Amino acid sequence: MSNYKDEVHLKVQEKIYPPEDIVKRAWIKDYDEVYKRSIEDREGFWAEVAEELHWFRKWDKVLEWNFPYAKWFVGGKTNITYNALDRHIKNGKGDKIAYIYVDEDGNEEKVTYSELLEKVNALANGLKRLGLKKGDRVSIYMPNSIEAVVSMLACARIGVIHSVVFAGFSEGALHMRIDDAKASAVITATYTKRRGRKIPLLPTVEKAIKDLDYIKNVIVWDRDKEGVTDKDDKYVDLNRLIEENKGECSPEEMDSEDPLFILYTSGTTGKPKGVLHTTGGYMVNTYYTAKIVFDLHEDDIYWCTADIGWITGHSYIVYAPLTNGVTSVIMEGVPVYPHPGIWWEYVDKYRVNIFYTAPTAIRMLMRFGDEIPAKYDLSSLRILGSVGEPINPEAWHWYYEHIGRKRCVIVDTWWQTETGSHMITTIPSYPMKPGKAGKPFFTIEAAVVDKNGNELPPNTVGYLVIKNPWPSMLRTCWGNPERYEKYWKEIDNVYNADDLASIDEDGYIMIVGRADDVLSVAGHRIGTMEVESAIVEHPDVVEAAVIGKPDPIKGQKIKAFVVLKVGVEPSDQLKKEIQNTVREILGPIAIPEEIDFVDKLPKTRSGKIMRRVLRAQELGLEVGDLSTLED
Ligand code: PRX
Repeated sequence: MSNYKDEVHLKVQEKIYPPEDIVKRAWIKDYDEVYKRSIEDREGFWAEVAEELHWFRKWDKVLEWNFPYAKWFVGGKTNITYNALDRHIKNGKGDKIAYIYVDEDGNEEKVTYSELLEKVNALANGLKRLGLKKGDRVSIYMPNSIEAVVSMLACARIGVIHSVVFAGFSEGALHMRIDDAKASAVITATYTKRRGRKIPLLPTVEKAIKDLDYIKNVIVWDRDKEGVTDKDDKYVDLNRLIEENKGECSPEEMDSEDPLFILYTSGTTGKPKGVLHTTGGYMVNTYYTAKIVFDLHEDDIYWCTADIGWITGHSYIVYAPLTNGVTSVIMEGVPVYPHPGIWWEYVDKYRVNIFYTAPTAIRMLMRFGDEIPAKYDLSSLRILGSVGEPINPEAWHWYYEHIGRKRCVIVDTWWQTETGSHMITTIPSYPMKPGKAGKPFFTIEAAVVDKNGNELPPNTVGYLVIKNPWPSMLRTCWGNPERYEKYWKEIDNVYNADDLASIDEDGYIMIVGRADDVLSVAGHRIGTMEVESAIVEHPDVVEAAVIGKPDPIKGQKIKAFVVLKVGVEPSDQLKKEIQNTVREILGPIAIPEEIDFVDKLPKTRSGKIMRRVLRAQELGLEVGDLSTLED
């Protein structure tokens, strides 16, 4: 780990105490006491939490741990949509607003818990009528919208496994994800809105499924009523499907371990992996982390700015806010359009209490100056969340001072698509350390170790591992159990997060970044091999290697080293073409900003590209051990 030692060891020790009123209302006031209890009786702890939710049949056993396979709430039967919707309606909260949808133009749509259930039931009935049944897969390629939430919940209502694909991905990425899951249907929209433009989605779906004859239906939210579904029986109008299938749809009694969704995420190897989450444990863990970390109470207005296409959207826009019964804001659009104060305008307008976003967005908004947020009344805010990448102390302080006005707490939540919910995070009742995520959540035993699993002394950077199973852990990788087992078998039979971190004397964990070849561009997780594979699709390219370069706003930007076919001349035009190839296959988030044409790439004798060498050369770092370099 020597490359990282000096670079990282900032010794951030500043402590900032949470305001008294926030501590006073926090669900958990004494972290140490509760943490100790949770470690002593992990199963008892989670059983107590699970009691807060509704089960059609109670579990027989809290945990069955058959390394590395876990089952939680074994024998329990439940449905996450029952806990998200019916339960609140039965408690007299049907008229409460579940979501306030807003777009960039100030259009607004509100939906109550009762109305949401009505739509979910109708769509679930409609999906059944189209022949979908428990265990089938449906891909969802939708704008951040109430319609997307309804689509996800309608699947969950009847046990159909949803696989949401971020609507910023292009046809290649979408095709791969639909094909790997063998989805029987796709739910999409004609377009999504971004920076005042309509970005078409349906044409991308059509290209992605061209030769996938197992797709029976494409269900389309025809936003401008263009009649796009008239052409062919395969196409179904989403709103018509809802309209024509109104009525009760009783929730499928799901086994606790029945799959809820697949979500694809990038890894070191070429193809993204389909992380599988199941019903009971995911429900309990997401519900409880949101309740404690965001300190959710009955009347809270909550806003998570993520997109439903990522795990943050799944857990903390859709499932956890609903199981907690709060009112959420959901926005379609970008943070700087039509003006860079749009988020603060909406925080002010809707009196948002809890605001959850990513450091890349904060760094971007900081650039526009302190006077922008200063124009708005942000006094409703209480809890500010951060997720997706390390938050540098400078961005942390700006968030704290200019958004939180020094009256809020910042919870820096570390977790992953694989973990399903928060794992290491500040909670509102103990002091914050800017730049450090915080302490392990209840029942989680985290450690920083070397490659052999030996724990390292405080303030030493190593691999971040989790030593125990937790309810919302991934259960497998879709169709690839070996890949799943690797998480637990790479380092001494503990879960390897593939992140680098250090732990200080007080038990606060600082996340340094990825240990593997995964990039984090504006908080989006992108595999180097995915980008490389897209680049070599260009007919003039023989080989490519991709690295991440530090970027003050996006965290990292992508740089590619490209070997061209013999006789092809490098040119700016060619760079543009390569960028376009990546845009078409993967989407704008994966475009290499810089491209260098080179004669060859550094490789090991076994032919693996040594990206580490390129990175070191590019950034002027020490190259390290070169003994495996080919020549
Ligand atoms: O490197 C860590 C970083 O994001 C990775 C997980 O990415 P993904 O599965 O896309 O999920 C992102 C949203 C949960 C991690 O391996 N990461 C996530 N949260 C933090 C973070 N890095 C530092 N601090 C965080 N709070």
